[in-house]
Order: sequence, then structure tokens, then C-alpha cells
Amino acid sequence: MKIAMIGTGYVGLVSGVCFSDFGHEVVCVDKDPAKLEKLNAGQVPIYEPGLDDLMARNVAAGRLSFSGDLAAAVEGAEAVFIAVGTPTRRGDGHADLTYVMSAAEEIARALTGYAVVVTKSTVPVGTNRKVAETIAAVNAEAEFDVASNPEFLREGAAIDDFMRPDRIVVGVESDRAAEIMQAIYQPLYLRDFPIMTTDLESAEMIKYAANAFLATKITFINEIAALCERTGADVKMVSKGIGMDGRIGAKFLHAGPGYGGSCFPKDTSALARIGQDHAVPMQLTETVIKVNEEVKRRMIEKVFDLCGGSVNGKKIAVLGVTFKPNTDDMRDAPSLVIVPALVGNGASVRVVDPQGFREGEALLPGVTWVEDVYEAAKGADAIVLLTEWNEFRALDLGRLVEEMASPMMADLRNIYSAQQARASGFQGYTSIGRRDEVA
Ligand SMILES: NC(=O)c1ccc[n+]([C@@H]2O[C@H](COP(=O)([O-])OP(=O)(O)OC[C@H]3O[C@@H](n4cnc5c(N)ncnc54)[C@H](O)[C@@H]3O)[C@@H](O)[C@H]2O)c1
Repeated sequence: MKIAMIGTGYVGLVSGVCFSDFGHEVVCVDKDPAKLEKLNAGQVPIYEPGLDDLMARNVAAGRLSFSGDLAAAVEGAEAVFIAVGTPTRRGDGHADLTYVMSAAEEIARALTGYAVVVTKSTVPVGTNRKVAETIAAVNAEAEFDVASNPEFLREGAAIDDFMRPDRIVVGVESDRAAEIMQAIYQPLYLRDFPIMTTDLESAEMIKYAANAFLATKITFINEIAALCERTGADVKMVSKGIGMDGRIGAKFLHAGPGYGGSCFPKDTSALARIGQDHAVPMQLTETVIKVNEEVKRRMIEKVFDLCGGSVNGKKIAVLGVTFKPNTDDMRDAPSLVIVPALVGNGASVRVVDPQGFREGEALLPGVTWVEDVYEAAKGADAIVLLTEWNEFRALDLGRLVEEMASPMMADLRNIYSAQQARASGFQGYTSIGRRDEVA
């Protein structure tokens, strides 16, 4: 099967590489010359564990290539995937469909024979029909069907998620398109991963509903965590206790500094706008968005309290700034709210993050980047653990205490405990939703 993948970001690149690993012939297209240069030199422009090896293997096998020439990639392809960005539109919170629609126009001009145009980008309900209208308007001769195939991979575990999905959702309207989609995913189908075929609108809605639900679950436990702090309950115990209920499930119940990333913030915002447009306000989602902002603000207060009410003149070591571990993605990371608040209030901030520098350097002005945690801790008045990279899970707390000017820790991922901190000599320790007495 010949496939063109338009957009080689976190989703397009992983999908293109994995489809080529299924045995398909894939051309990944991007507009960004810097990205293409790297890809054609065998380098992966993003950090995603395992992607470099899989990419190299499939390039070597002659099944995978990269190009800036959309028309050449589309010619002869049986399926053309749109995997371009759908960021929040400036000003109104809607999904910005500029990239999707301009890709649709370019594809329309390039279509020479029948192809399924598959939208993998996360798009509001009704977008696939707009894509179809656009293609028909630009090229009245075009022979095509559209399909909606939302993606559920998680950055940091993207290959495994793509290769072993909980489900594949395919929205189609014709048997011909359904057969092509089935053939594309045949290797997964043969291994009994469920493929759910549905209509276009339901497929589009499934993606937004899934992300809004997960954002709600995270926000729920973050709110419970705040109440735990006031009542003496331990949110880790509460998460465990409710997560063991099969109806609830243990995932996405870890209290933290608020959700961020390339999907939840923009997708909850888009869903809220879709609801408003249809006069069906998404009240739960709107509240989740609001509470999540409060959660981030609460984190800032925690650090201030830990530092005796003010961070002015304090040296603070921040551990982790990407929105989660195992990615270099900084989009809407809680660190982008928390770190500037520290810098803006007079703290001198040193940041250590295994992959955050490339994106983070421009996004976090006024901080100093260091490579080593203990180096970051030297002379520090407080450590703020923001992203739970494996590198930060087994720190030598005693050594940190020795390095620091005043040993205080805000553990915003609940990796350690007050007992551990106390035993290692920390004079102050704060975490989320737990009793934090140290003295
Ligand atoms: N990142 C995730 O974890 C994730 C997970 C599931 C779904 N999604 C969705 O997938 C979509 C893509 O997300 P992403 O994170 O991969 O985006 P991204 O910003 O990392 O990548 C988009 C790429 O598309 C390219 N592009 C834009 N217009 C183009 C055009 N006309 N022709 C060729 N290339 C073009 C850009 O240069 C960029 O490289 C979004 O709708 C997102 O919501 C993302």
C-alpha cells in the first residue's frame, strides 16, 4: 500500500514510521526545510524513545522516505494522511484549522487517481466534511473519499501506543475507504487489536471526548489532593483506593502540578468552544480548564510558602520542565507558568531537564540551564521537582542536602516522602495532597 503522510511532527512522523514498519511504502511530507534536512540525514527531529532505530530500519529497507514535494508524494498514493497541527486559534480558543485546510487544498490539486484522504489531526466535529467539500471545490475531477482516523498515542510511549493500541477508530462513509483503512491496519487487526468503524462525526467526537475525559480525571484528583492537604488524608492512598475500583481505573489519577502538553489544553479549549457554538455548553470541561489553571497557581504558592513567603533573592533548582517525562515537548507545560512566576518574583533559577533545552531555551528566558542535578543544587535554597523523569526518581537526597544552601524541596510529583526528606536532612519538604511535616 502506498501512503503519503502530510506533516511529520510527533504524530505524523511516528505514524509514518510505524506504517512503513507494517510493510507499507510511506512518503512523509513536511513544509519545514530544517526538519526535512534532519530526516534526510537520518536524524529524528524530536525526542521519542525508539523512533530513531525504527526509522533507520525502514529507510534502509526502502519503504520510508521524506520529502517536501507533496504533489509527488500524493501521486499514486492510495491513502493520504493529514497529520498537521491544530493548535488553539489565537483569541477565541477554537481549533485553528488553517493547516488542515491548506493541506486539503494542496492534496486536492495533487490527486490523480482514487485515494482516501484520512484526517489524523485532532479536528472539530464536521471538519472531515469540510475537507471533502474543499477537495471537491478545488478539484472537481478528484476521485476520493475522506476518513477520520484520530490518533491516541502518548508522547514518550508513542511507538508502543501505535503498535499496541487500545483501539483504532476509523470514521468512513464508503466501503471502498473502509477496505483501504482495514488494509492499512491489517497487521494490527490480525493481532486482535480492535478496529472500531464508525461515522465521521462520531470518530471526530471520540477524540475530543477521550481527551476531555482524561483531563477531567487528572483535574479531579488534583482537586481532591487540595482537600487532602486540608483534611489530613493522603492523596496517594486515595488514588490507589479509588483506582482499584474497576469502574474508575488507576490511570490518570496521579496528583501533580496540572495537566499540560500538546493535546489536553488545546483540545479541552476546542471542545468548550464547540459546545458554545452548538448552544450546548460543556460545563464540566469549562470547569476543568478553570480548575487546572488554579492548580498551577497553587503550585506557585506552595513554592513561595516553602521559601518562607517570598522567593526574592532565592536560588531555586528546577528539576524537569517538559510537560511529562520522555519527551522534549514543552507545549503548554505547567513549567511555563510556574518557572516565570519564580523568575518574575526575584528568584534565580537553574533548570535541569534531560531533553527540555532545545524547546525550553527560548520559552524560559532568564534561567540558567545545567546538565547535572547536583550541579543545579549547588548553593540552592530550594529544589522544585516538576517533571518526573526517571533520572529524578532515585536521587541521592543526602548529597543534595550537602550541596544546598538551605535544603528545601517542593516535590510536585510526589516522588519522595516527608519521611525520606526528613531522614536525609531536608529542613522543608512539600508535596501534593499529603501531610508534609518535616521538622
Ligand atoms: N502530539 C501528540 O501527542 C498528539 C497525540 C494525538 C493527536 N495529536 C494531534 O495530531 C496533530 C498533529 O500534532 P503534532 O503534535 O504531531 O503536531 P506538530 O506541530 O508536531 O507537527 C505538525 C507538522 O506538520 C507540518 N505541516 C503543517 N502544514 C503542512 C503542510 N501543508 N504540508 C506539510 N507539512 C505541514 C509542520 O511543519 C509540522 O512539522 C494535531 O491535530 C494534534 O492534536 C497529537
